Amino acid sequence: MGGKSRGLRVALAAAPAALATLATTASPAAAAPSVRAGQGTGTLRALAAAAGHRWIGAAVDTTALAHERGYASVLARQFSSVTAENVMKWETVESRRGAEDYGQADRLVAFARRNHMMVRGHNLVWHSQLPAWLAQGADDGTLTHAQLSSILHRHVVDEVSHFRGRVYAWDVVNEPLNEDGTLRETVWYDALGRSYIAKALEWAHAADPRAKLYLNDYGIEAAGPKSDGMYALAKSLLALHVPLDGIGFESHLDIRYPFPAGMARNLRRFAALGLDVAVTEADVRIALPGTAAERARQADDYGRLVEACLSVRRCVSFTVWGFTDRHSWIPGFFPGEGAADLYDRSLQPKPAYRAVHDALAAAGSSRS
Ligand code: G3I
Repeated sequence: MGGKSRGLRVALAAAPAALATLATTASPAAAAPSVRAGQGTGTLRALAAAAGHRWIGAAVDTTALAHERGYASVLARQFSSVTAENVMKWETVESRRGAEDYGQADRLVAFARRNHMMVRGHNLVWHSQLPAWLAQGADDGTLTHAQLSSILHRHVVDEVSHFRGRVYAWDVVNEPLNEDGTLRETVWYDALGRSYIAKALEWAHAADPRAKLYLNDYGIEAAGPKSDGMYALAKSLLALHVPLDGIGFESHLDIRYPFPAGMARNLRRFAALGLDVAVTEADVRIALPGTAAERARQADDYGRLVEACLSVRRCVSFTVWGFTDRHSWIPGFFPGEGAADLYDRSLQPKPAYRAVHDALAAAGSSRS
């Protein structure tokens, strides 16, 4: 793992060159509106780069990207990394068994390349958003454990191979833990036992040895049983020389709860294992319609999340789970809540945007 870590430091130091290479190999086929890459001073992406070669990313709704010029324009101008909110998930890439279709994801990757952005892959192994043929087959027993094992192997290898060299980091296993820090009993746990995590990481590494491989979960931002479970899991995988490179901290916050206590310290203990860490799905929801005071508290939480990441050298990226309240998963999952993003429904920046901007700017100026 030491070699891989050194490799990442070199890769980050060489980031502008790497991005230039990505740009020159970009596909000319443009499905989404073509947007001039925004690297102007004062944008979040410029400030994140100045704050130590960090990526600032956003999860992308690819339907909005294809049809809304304003959406594409803000995304390219402000962010240096994208994550597919849904279109790299198994449900989308293999809705019919054996008929893999990466079309929507490929268009997002092409957009990222045209606009000099990195791509985080999300996700390979999860218990949710599985294709119906797979979920049903596992449920009714028509797919045996041995078949599920080989189906998972093929899926991981095929998807990582498809994006080899174009996706720099993968959420290989998504949300593997229960709240008490034990392993969640999923279809994959039931079929392969606890070794499904190590196997998935090894299969992904074989398919693209240069990709950074992550475990990703929510509710692990503060120290506590779930975070301790992730720490123990990571440590045991590293002891077995399993190719694990990083831990993703989703960071879905709600202003009704206190900010995750000691988050920077918690990130640091994972980094001390020799791992990268990343904030992968940040958003901060409020009860609608929301008051000015609530938007100020939300801004404060965003700023603190960015500061926690920036205070840890190995925190390589900060990604928001959607950047505009116009396209957000929150109202559908938490009725009565929303307005969780940096931009409002009209793509106007909110106080939360300013807080992220200022936290990045402060970190950049303290380095110069
Ligand atoms: O694509 C279908 C569409 O054909 C159908 O008409 C429509 C009707 O409901 O549903 C559409 O699918 C929706 C899908 O998003 C794509 O938009 C699903 O209903 C909806 O449940 C699904 O939600 C996604 C959710 O993951 C599923 O668990 C959210 O957009 C996405 O933001 C969310 O992302 C997760 C991360 O992957 C992991 N961490 C938590 C995070 C938030 O839940």
